[in-house]
Amino acid sequence: MEKIHAVIKGVGGYVPDYILTNDELSRMVDTTDEWIMTRIGIKERRLLREEGKATSDLGVEAVKNLFAKTGTKPEEVDLLICATVTPDMRFPATSCIICDKMGIKNAFAFDLTSGCSGFVYALSTAARFVESGRYKKVVLVGAEVMSSIIDYTDRATCPIFGDGAGAVLLEPSTEAYGVLDEEMGTDGYGRVHLHMKAGGSLMPPSHETIDKRLHYVYQEGQPVFKWAVVKMADVAEAVMKRNHLDPNKTWLVPHQANLRIIDAVARRMELSSERVMINIQKYGNTTAATIPLLLWEWENKLKKGDDLVICAFGSGFSWGAIWLKWAY
Ligand code: UT7
Repeated sequence: MEKIHAVIKGVGGYVPDYILTNDELSRMVDTTDEWIMTRIGIKERRLLREEGKATSDLGVEAVKNLFAKTGTKPEEVDLLICATVTPDMRFPATSCIICDKMGIKNAFAFDLTSGCSGFVYALSTAARFVESGRYKKVVLVGAEVMSSIIDYTDRATCPIFGDGAGAVLLEPSTEAYGVLDEEMGTDGYGRVHLHMKAGGSLMPPSHETIDKRLHYVYQEGQPVFKWAVVKMADVAEAVMKRNHLDPNKTWLVPHQANLRIIDAVARRMELSSERVMINIQKYGNTTAATIPLLLWEWENKLKKGDDLVICAFGSGFSWGAIWLKWAY
């Protein structure tokens, strides 16, 4: 039997309208545009401000955009995975809510929680379903309302994150395009440096956890930074080297956490800057949505047969890199 590959057939994206600029942030906490630009590389980020709207609504907009571009009908989809750390509710899964709002009736759906590596992990997972030959149209969503878990009195975390969603359609192909190789890793020790303290079974919500502001992202920036540089570059370089990818022709699609991390990974891979996808300056870190939002913005520049190395690092710690050959 011919080997089946999982290929991306289209990309959709959506960001909410509200723009939180560095100038506005510097009126909220003790920070400056200069500090944020030099230390992180973010100018502005989008925030969901509409009452009653949630992560699923951003996901729905991205999927609508994807369906319009690819001519996909809701009833054709047989699996939908949503990568998110900001689900609408603890349960049910946000993927089920997206299916309901989109009229997707013939699919099964689940969420995948792996922080900033969420989309890479979900792409690896979705590829296995497609490669099995059983699933023909798989929708992969990365969607976050990070503003729902950010403490806007904490200058160490509030400039970093933003809200947004991206979605891709995966289909089978017997040609050698799509997901071709990957390298993934996890080290649970890293949880001490990046987590949310309360709200889980370890520390259920209480008046005390709210008074102590424990329902927000807790991050020790420096250790996370050091691990991110090393692990993202390690796996991206490994995937590139063992597949003999040409640094002059390969696109780097890196998770958007910090411009300095992206630059370090690109340097290790010896890529020129025009091959590196970057939109952190306008969206910030949208966690599981950064990578599909990059693909959404770069889709018009990509050509059939282009090599992409997609890589991410996030809470867990978790990290991964995927070699993907663009199929259209
Ligand atoms: O996507 C998930 C994975 N997450 C990441 O990859 C994030 C990785 N970490 C980072 O990107 C960086 O560590 C941060 C952007 C979070 C922080 O940058 P940094 O260069 O590591 O700064 P720092 O935490 O070492 O802080 C340096 C100084 C400190 O002041 P002192 O102690 O030197 O006087 C901070 O208090 O900068 C201060 N500082 C700020 N100053 C102005 C921290 N936040 C701010 C701020 N504005 N917003």
